Amino acid sequence: MKVLIIISHPRTNSLTFSIAKHFQEGLLEKGHKVTVLDLYREEFDPVLKERDEPGWGNTVKTMATHIVENERKRLNRFDAYVFIFPIWWYGLPAILKGYIDRVFFFPAPSKIRADKVLWLGLAGDTEQEFTSSGHDNALKHQLINGISKKTGIMKPEVRFFFDTKNEDKKFDYEKTMDKAYKLGLSF
Ligand SMILES: Cc1cc2nc3c(=O)[nH]c(=O)nc-3n(C[C@H](O)[C@H](O)[C@H](O)COP(=O)(O)O)c2cc1C
Repeated sequence: MKVLIIISHPRTNSLTFSIAKHFQEGLLEKGHKVTVLDLYREEFDPVLKERDEPGWGNTVKTMATHIVENERKRLNRFDAYVFIFPIWWYGLPAILKGYIDRVFFFPAPSKIRADKVLWLGLAGDTEQEFTSSGHDNALKHQLINGISKKTGIMKPEVRFFFDTKNEDKKFDYEKTMDKAYKLGLSF
């Protein structure tokens, strides 16, 4: 498969980037073709302005800005997308939220070509903190039903990496990178 990895983190030496690197190694080992889109280094502007607002069925509006049209063309060259991001306020970082806002609203009848997407989110919380407060189900629901399926991606999957701030001193770097590699290998 042709896979597009979309990374959203201000620092290239972050845990998010390390997980992306190991995940990518797994994908390559499996024989996939991989391209990385680094939203921060590309300086993607996440603010949706008038020109990119959808036309809501009044067909006057058929084209968005070149940036958005080019981004849609890029997306349609791939069979699957993998979003790798830190969880901020139990949701997506603004740059990724804005990417979805601006790029994912395909004017009917066209739709996103890929039907497979994996959301890989990193949480500072421990698994216990994250799940007992209901944030895992809330975020999964938003990513699977609120975004993926709404845009025609019928095989969405969500995985979390927990305890990244290592406040309980139990975070295992090697184990985490191995998990990322194996996720790539089984994609
Ligand atoms: C603005 C901001 C908001 C955050 N919100 C959350 C949150 O809602 N839940 C959580 O578990 N961690 C939260 N964190 C912690 C990040 O998820 C954590 O820093 C990240 O997973 C660590 O990976 P990194 O080194 O790649 O940034 C937040 C961090 C920042 C900077």
